[in-house]
Amino acid sequence: MPVITFANTKGGAGKTTAVLLLATELARQGYRVTILDADPQHWISRWHEISGHVENISVIDFVTTASLPQHIGENRHNTDYFIIDLPGARNPLLATAVGLSDHVLIPIQGCAMDARGGAQVLELLQYLEEKAGIKIGHSVVLTRVNSMVTTRALQIVKALLNERHVAVLDTAIIERSAFRDIFDCGGTLHTMDPMRVSNLDKARENALRFAEEIMLKVPGRLPVAVRLANAIRSAA
Ligand SMILES: Nc1ncnc2c1ncn2[C@@H]1O[C@H](COP(=O)(O)OP(=O)(O)OP(=O)(O)O)[C@@H](O)[C@H]1O
Ligand SMILES: [Mg+2]
Repeated sequence: MPVITFANTKGGAGKTTAVLLLATELARQGYRVTILDADPQHWISRWHEISGHVENISVIDFVTTASLPQHIGENRHNTDYFIIDLPGARNPLLATAVGLSDHVLIPIQGCAMDARGGAQVLELLQYLEEKAGIKIGHSVVLTRVNSMVTTRALQIVKALLNERHVAVLDTAIIERSAFRDIFDCGGTLHTMDPMRVSNLDKARENALRFAEEIMLKVPGRLPVAVRLANAIRSAA
């Protein structure tokens, strides 16, 4: 059961939004997802509270540096993917979460301050590899990207990452009202009303592409019952 952490020491980079999009999409595919909420604003836990039961999703709130390894240990047998939502800060929790991860995703908006917060995570990953021999897969996901225009700031960030040979996901997370509304409405992109949310089809497509890319990078194992049902469906 892979552990995926979203990290950027700069606040507001789009970590929590990306966590929710990935978690709900993986859950829709049949994976059992445990979200470890270490964000002091508890957005995921609040979303879970207003959503009621969401198939295949569990949320653990008030995750700390001390409790994180225990949560993973205790839930490893009922979870196909762990996703960690970190605060936008440089603290011991960041190093612990990164150290426990199979893959670290670094959400970066096309702006210099965000890129600096992302660079601090990249420095930590480099430090772990050089000093402790711990090599953790990681990639940047560009967030809140304008669907119509490529801004100059975004081009600069892309060029900088390319120069440093940092992997960047092909799928950027586009700025969409659906990605904000989901925190107010609860539920998922697939329980929202297309008549009331603009470009919901595009938002769903974006979330699916994003999750597909991550599933390829960090494959999970579907529960046996889901694999059986899929096999029967494709044979029919
Ligand atoms: N793709 C998007 N489309 C529209 N709004 C977005 C998108 N991504 C993030 N936002 C909005 O930007 C703000 C910050 O996003 P988010 O809370 O996901 O960032 P964060 O990195 O988790 O922040 P923090 O470091 O404070 O935990 C929120 O108001 C969120 O609704
Ligand atoms: Mg957050």
